Amino acid sequence: MSHSYSKFLSMLLFCSLFSVPLCCGQLDYKFYDNTCPNLLKIVRYGVWSAIANETRMAASILRLHFHDCFANGCDGSVLLDDTSTFTGEKNATPNKNSARGFEVIDAIKANVEKACPSIVSCADILTLAARESVYLTGGPYWPVPLGRRDGLTANETAANELPSPFEPLENITAKFVSMGLDLKDVVVLSGAHTIGFAQCFTFKQRLFDFDGAGNPDPTLDASLLSNLRTVCPNQNNSDTNLVSLDPTTTNKFDNNYFKNLVNNSGLLQSDQALMGDNITASFVMNYSKFPFLFSRDFGISMVKMGNIGVLTSQDGERRKNCRMVN
Ligand code: HEM
Ligand SMILES: *[C@@H]1O[C@H](CO)[C@@H](O)[C@H](O)[C@H]1NC(C)=O
Ligand SMILES: *[C@@H]1O[C@H](CO)[C@@H](O)[C@H](O)[C@H]1NC(C)=O
Ligand SMILES: *[C@@H]1O[C@H](CO)[C@@H](O)[C@H](O)[C@H]1NC(C)=O
Ligand SMILES: *[C@@H]1O[C@H](CO)[C@@H](O)[C@H](O)[C@H]1NC(C)=O
Ligand SMILES: *[C@@H]1O[C@H](CO)[C@@H](O)[C@H](O)[C@H]1NC(C)=O
Ligand SMILES: *[C@@H]1O[C@H](CO)[C@@H](O)[C@H](O)[C@H]1NC(C)=O
Ligand SMILES: *[C@@H]1O[C@H](CO)[C@@H](O)[C@H](O)[C@H]1NC(C)=O
Repeated sequence: MSHSYSKFLSMLLFCSLFSVPLCCGQLDYKFYDNTCPNLLKIVRYGVWSAIANETRMAASILRLHFHDCFANGCDGSVLLDDTSTFTGEKNATPNKNSARGFEVIDAIKANVEKACPSIVSCADILTLAARESVYLTGGPYWPVPLGRRDGLTANETAANELPSPFEPLENITAKFVSMGLDLKDVVVLSGAHTIGFAQCFTFKQRLFDFDGAGNPDPTLDASLLSNLRTVCPNQNNSDTNLVSLDPTTTNKFDNNYFKNLVNNSGLLQSDQALMGDNITASFVMNYSKFPFLFSRDFGISMVKMGNIGVLTSQDGERRKNCRMVN
């Protein structure tokens, strides 16, 4: 890419982030500017120190925000613990033994409470922490509208309906559309799989008997296939072994996820499926070629996702402890 072209693209990125009215309803970029001026610093420090201890945590926090937003809206519901009288989302199938990062959000929340007690919602902290996770792993930065309030309840049924790696693209797209998102959001946000890990059972059916005749998924690159068979042998005790979603740069938020898809090297069936449809494949081709385009669109789609079903004004509450309602 020529220098002037990439300069043009970064200008485009800059202008569109600040000129397009990304915001939404009653959320506001300056929501805590007066009431909790150090909020951003506290969240950034919390995410930074968590990543310094374990690089994967950036991916885990980003995913936690997605799981919060898709079940009951971005209201911190995913953070609520089960009790004897309350069933939350943590033990829903997509989250159980899979969602992680709760301790990091707790630690950030504790520091935020010290600086500005009962001001900042857990939903906003998680939204900001997801942005910091992307930024601190080398990805884009985008302004985050704030002012979400925390839900008083959770919805396990909704959490069980989170997009699954085993369902076809049309079903996943339908779920995004039901959240007010579109096909482009499906592709761009799937680019989050440029960081983090998946357990073998989430893609193992592609490796051994994909067609019922003992053959692997034909859309899986042969050399990746043989590597994956080594890490995920065909026996149940390999189910929870971990594999990088983007083996080329596991801890870096870049556009390699899309380059991998072009090379038949997507890990999940739902990842590679983006190449099996002409429209999504053309988005993938563009993001694989133009990192700035991906960076810009990812920020835009994250803001859209962060606005799903938000509670504002007098609705919900600002939890003191993210794990339980006040
Ligand atoms: C499009 C539908 C999606 C499907 C089917 C899907 C599925 C999955 C699966 C199966 C895993 C591995 C979980 C495990 O093995 O425990 C995973 C991990 C992950 N997902 Fe997604 N995902 C989708 C969309 C998203 C979105 C929209 C985001 C965020 C914007 C996201 C972010 C992540 C991240 C960062 C990880 C790695 C987490 C870690 O290492 O802890 N995913 N996803
Ligand atoms: C650091 O990460 C490890 C996992 O790699 C985890 O067990 C430990 O609790 C983390 N420590 C802190 C202080 O976050
Ligand atoms: C929980 O989520 C399900 C599935 O999205 C939905 O049908 C149901 O109405 C929700 N329940 C409540 C109480 O919001
Ligand atoms: C996809 O959605 C259709 C219609 O809602 C449903 O009948 C089908 O079971 C879904 N497929 C999978 C694999 O979830
Ligand atoms: C592996 O797990 C599957 C599903 O849980 C079960 O049906 C199968 O019997 C198990 N196989 C072995 C060898 O344990
Ligand atoms: C994908 O293919 C291109 C050229 O065809 C190559 O340069 C690149 O290294 C490949 N990437 C991966 C992840 O295999
Ligand atoms: C997708 O493109 C291929 C050729 O590139 C064409 O044969 C096919 O009909 C197209 N499919 C759809 C659904 O447009
Ligand atoms: C891909 O990029 C080309 C050139 O920038 C543009 O014309 C096309 O509409 C883009 N396609 C998609 C699906 O975004």
